[in-house]
Amino acid sequence: MYIAVFVAAAVGGGILLVLRRLFPQQEAVKLLRYPIDMMQGKTVIVTGANSGIGKAVAGELLKLQARVIMACRDLESAEEAARDIKEHAGPDQGQVVIKHLDLASLGSVRRFCTEIKEESKIDVLINNAGIYQCPYTKTEDGFEMQLGVNHLGHFLITNLLLDLLKASAPGRIVVVSSKLYKYGHVNFDDLNSENNYDKAFCYSQSKLANLLFTLELSQRLEGSGVTVNALTPGIVRTRLGRHVPIPFLAKPLFGLASLVFFKSPLEGAQTPLYLACSPEVDGVSGKCFANCKEEELMAKATDDQAAKQLWEVSKRMVGLTD
Ligand SMILES: NC(=O)c1ccc[n+]([C@@H]2O[C@H](COP(=O)([O-])OP(=O)(O)OC[C@H]3O[C@@H](n4cnc5c(N)ncnc54)[C@H](OP(=O)(O)O)[C@@H]3O)[C@@H](O)[C@H]2O)c1
Repeated sequence: MYIAVFVAAAVGGGILLVLRRLFPQQEAVKLLRYPIDMMQGKTVIVTGANSGIGKAVAGELLKLQARVIMACRDLESAEEAARDIKEHAGPDQGQVVIKHLDLASLGSVRRFCTEIKEESKIDVLINNAGIYQCPYTKTEDGFEMQLGVNHLGHFLITNLLLDLLKASAPGRIVVVSSKLYKYGHVNFDDLNSENNYDKAFCYSQSKLANLLFTLELSQRLEGSGVTVNALTPGIVRTRLGRHVPIPFLAKPLFGLASLVFFKSPLEGAQTPLYLACSPEVDGVSGKCFANCKEEELMAKATDDQAAKQLWEVSKRMVGLTD
């Protein structure tokens, strides 16, 4: 009996140690508390608001009485998410509007922006939607999927909505990146990875592109009353890893690890929420945040030359003219 308990404790301890190495402990997350009417009268677009971090941010903004535009590619899933967040947002909630947006189609992005231009104003745009390590596929317009969805689709939306955002100033743009940017670089010679596809590299490349986009945009927005900041949410328990195969036997272990070591979607939503609402970041622009604090970036994410080059290339790719 004692031996069995000892062996179980040793094995359990060993597993916990391995999991701790694989998923380093994240800083404890303090949930933000804002006045209930903090976002009353504000219109906020959240891309990918039907799932994970986006859904949690949309839910929190709804509680703060914002008009939340959920920009989603799967309308059925968006309806279900909207029902869920409304149910939890209490009696004095804001308003939810669902709009179709497929970031893997420039046509869809353009149609979405045409519809949005009927809004009298947009106060905050949260570029949250993302795809991670999918098999090699191309968007409708022939871009490698991760670059196309994570960077180029959002690049086009932001540019098409800039006039409305500026006219509604003060405004904010929030860009959800990832710490995995560290493992990428922008491969200008083969942006669509036609010669060689490494799914992990392409995700990192797209998330570095998010940061370079934020840097260049912040300079272009100087004096406009609109700010743009990026964030890295940490490791969050969402459906992002859906394309990553986990061996059948490792699934329970992974499930356990994600429960113990990953942030919940609500915890993961705190930094985007902070950047969307907090008075502490009034006028702050071109920065990256983690756990609601400014984060220091590697030189490759603060490279002005690369940011400008990426901007010009992206403009050509999505067919934007001045
Ligand atoms: N979870 C993490 O640990 C983590 C870490 C670092 C950064 N991030 C970033 O956080 C953001 C949110 O991801 P998440 O973790 O919340 O994952 P998630 O639950 O998978 O949510 C991703 C969202 O993006 C949407 N999306 C994907 N492709 C799209 C497309 N072509 N057009 C429109 N929407 C599309 C998804 O829609 P469908 O439901 O229809 O697929 C979903 O709503 C992403 O930018 C991700 O890179 C997450």
